[in-house]
Amino acid sequence: MSGRGSKKVAIVAGDGIGPEVVESALAVLEAVGADFERVPVEIGLVRWKRTGLAMSEEDLAALKECDCILFGAISTPPDPNYKSVLLRIRKELDLYANIRPFQSQNLDFIIVRENTEGLYSGIEEMDAERAQTMRIITRRGSERIAEKACDLAASRQKLTIIHKSNVLKSDRLFLRTCQATAKRRGVPYEDMLVDAAAYNMVTNPRRFDVLVTTNLFGDILSDEAAGVIGSLGLCASANIGTDHALFEPIHGSAPDIAGKSIANPIGAMRSAAMMMRWLDEPEMASRIEAAVQEGLASGARTPDLGGNSRTVDVTRAVVGLLRGRDTNWS
Ligand code: IPM
Ligand code: MG
Repeated sequence: MSGRGSKKVAIVAGDGIGPEVVESALAVLEAVGADFERVPVEIGLVRWKRTGLAMSEEDLAALKECDCILFGAISTPPDPNYKSVLLRIRKELDLYANIRPFQSQNLDFIIVRENTEGLYSGIEEMDAERAQTMRIITRRGSERIAEKACDLAASRQKLTIIHKSNVLKSDRLFLRTCQATAKRRGVPYEDMLVDAAAYNMVTNPRRFDVLVTTNLFGDILSDEAAGVIGSLGLCASANIGTDHALFEPIHGSAPDIAGKSIANPIGAMRSAAMMMRWLDEPEMASRIEAAVQEGLASGARTPDLGGNSRTVDVTRAVVGLLRGRDTNWS
C-alpha cells in the first residue's frame, strides 16, 4: 500500500472501536501485499465534536471519487435532528445491497438485505401524540436486490425469500417480485415469514443458504445470525451499489469498549477480504480468510469469543500467519 496502485480506497475509521479494527484490517491488507492508495476521510462523532458537522458534502464527494470504502464504525451524534451518517452514505451512494455472510464450523449462509428503502426510507413524522414511518417497497428496489441474491444463489443451493406478506401489502410486492426474479433466473427458491425465519435461525440455521429480505428484517436477522455463529465481532459485510461499494464489520462503534484493545478485529478483517474480492483480487481475499480461520483455530480469540487475546494480539497472529512467521499471542 505504497500509493503506487491505481486503486483508491477511502478509509473511514470513524469512532469508538472503529479506528482499532480498521488498523487491524489495514495491517492484514498490507501483509497480503494489497496495493492501493489510502484516502483517509474523517467522518463521524469526533469530527462533529470538533466542527459541529459529522460529514460534509466534500466528504461525500471524496467517498464517491474513490474506487471503494473501507469503513470502521461511527456513532451518530447525540442530537435528535441528526440522522445516522452511515444510512446517509448508503442512500447517497445508492448502496442498495447489504451482503452479510455468516460462517462458522458447520454453518454457511448469506443474508442479502435491501439497504435503501423499506422502513429506512426516512419518510416519517412525530409529534407528542403520534408518530409514523412510511415503509416504501418498490418493484425496482425489490427486483435489483433479488437479482443480487440470485447472483449469489446461482452457485449455491437455494434462495429463501423472507417477508411478512400475510400482514403487509408492501411485502406482497416484495415477495411477488423476488419470486418472479428467481423464476426467471432459474434459481431454486422458497419463501418464509420473518417470524418463522427468526425461529429457524435459532433452531435449525443449517436449513438456510442465501436469504433475501427487506431492510429492517435484514438488520434484525443479521444480528440474530451473528449470535448464532458466536459473536457480532466475527461478521463482515459489503454494501454494494451500481457505482460504489463500502465494506464494514456489522458491529457498531461500541464506545463502552473503545480504546481497551479488546474489540474483535475479525469482522473488519473479513470485510477487508470481501473488499479485495470486489477489487478483483480473489487470491488475496482467500488468503486473508484462511489466515483468519487459522488464527481463530489456534486460539487467537478476543473476550467476546471467551478468549483473552487483545485486538493487537489477534492482529499480530493473523498478520504472522500471512507473512509465514510463527507468532506468540496468548
Ligand atoms: C447495521 C446497523 C445500522 C442499521 C445502524 C447503525 C443504522 O445496525 O448496519 O446493521 O440499522 O443498518
Ligand atoms: Mg444492525
